[in-house]
Amino acid sequence: MTRVGIIGLGMLGNAVALHLLDSGFEVTVYNRTKEKTIQTKEKGAKVATSPKEIAENSELVIIVVKDANAVKEISFEKDGIIEGKHEKLIVADMSTIDPSESKNISKKFQEYNIHKLDIPVMGGPNVAISGDLVMMASGNKESFDHCKDVFEKIANKVFFLGESGVAHSVKLAMNLQITMLALALSEGITLVEKSNVDPKIFLEILNSTYFKTGMSEKKAYNMIEGKYDTTFTLANLKKDISTMTGAAKSLGIELPMIKKAEEVYENAIREGFGEIDYTGIIEYIKKINEPK
Ligand SMILES: NC(=O)c1ccc[n+]([C@@H]2O[C@H](COP(=O)([O-])OP(=O)(O)OC[C@H]3O[C@@H](n4cnc5c(N)ncnc54)[C@H](OP(=O)(O)O)[C@@H]3O)[C@@H](O)[C@H]2O)c1
Repeated sequence: MTRVGIIGLGMLGNAVALHLLDSGFEVTVYNRTKEKTIQTKEKGAKVATSPKEIAENSELVIIVVKDANAVKEISFEKDGIIEGKHEKLIVADMSTIDPSESKNISKKFQEYNIHKLDIPVMGGPNVAISGDLVMMASGNKESFDHCKDVFEKIANKVFFLGESGVAHSVKLAMNLQITMLALALSEGITLVEKSNVDPKIFLEILNSTYFKTGMSEKKAYNMIEGKYDTTFTLANLKKDISTMTGAAKSLGIELPMIKKAEEVYENAIREGFGEIDYTGIIEYIKKINEPK
């Protein structure tokens, strides 16, 4: 399989497309806002004018857009993927969306005899650029096996998890970890700063223990300095948190911490922190602790 289409050249999609171009694939791209296709065009990508044209030109179409509504729009509305369908077409959705929405979208594609896989990923544009994402996949196993070479180029670890939707459930559980880690670091740093302790010492101690994480070893130092090299916006993480609370509701389970986190991230967006990196949640925690 060599002809790959990418719909959605946001931070993640752009990096995935650049890496596939570097790896020798024939890549066609589409983005609603055309200016974002410039970088990939310069690297040799063909630029399509619609999702339909992407489908016509590709054996595998990878979708990397904001949410389930965007996935449905580019798939089923005018000039959508289904209008460009052909016998060899497989669709794979990398966007982070609700597992039940994902199942319904797969079913709708099936009505057009198109196999749709779920391929949510862990890792941002900074690792996507070198093919070092971690991928969770679900859906039709035969289609997955057919596309495996491409997936293994995009990610250094690929897990096939079973029936449609389940990869998104695992992805939500992964982003739940990210949410809590960013909050735990933000509150820990604020607590020690208010106690006149250098937060770098706090991180040095934390990173000397079993409780260290990639986040405490890397992004946390930028959090202390108020530097936010945005790889995943706080608003997009909040979108995922709301998807988690929605999924919990439909599963009939209580996840009390994520419910509380939803409120915190919602307030942070209201205070204007939505477009910085999600680790900028520390700015909101600092703000609510400013002297009155
Ligand atoms: N960044 C990460 O670290 C990361 C990691 C794992 C998963 N993800 C997931 O990957 C997806 C993309 O994330 P990102 O960080 O690349 O986000 P982003 O930079 O905000 O880009 C969002 C993309 O979605 C497109 N889009 C939004 N609404 C649309 C619509 N109605 N129709 C067509 N296109 C639409 C945007 O097009 P325009 O340019 O026209 O607005 C843009 O290409 C999200 O689901 C996110 O949760 C991101």
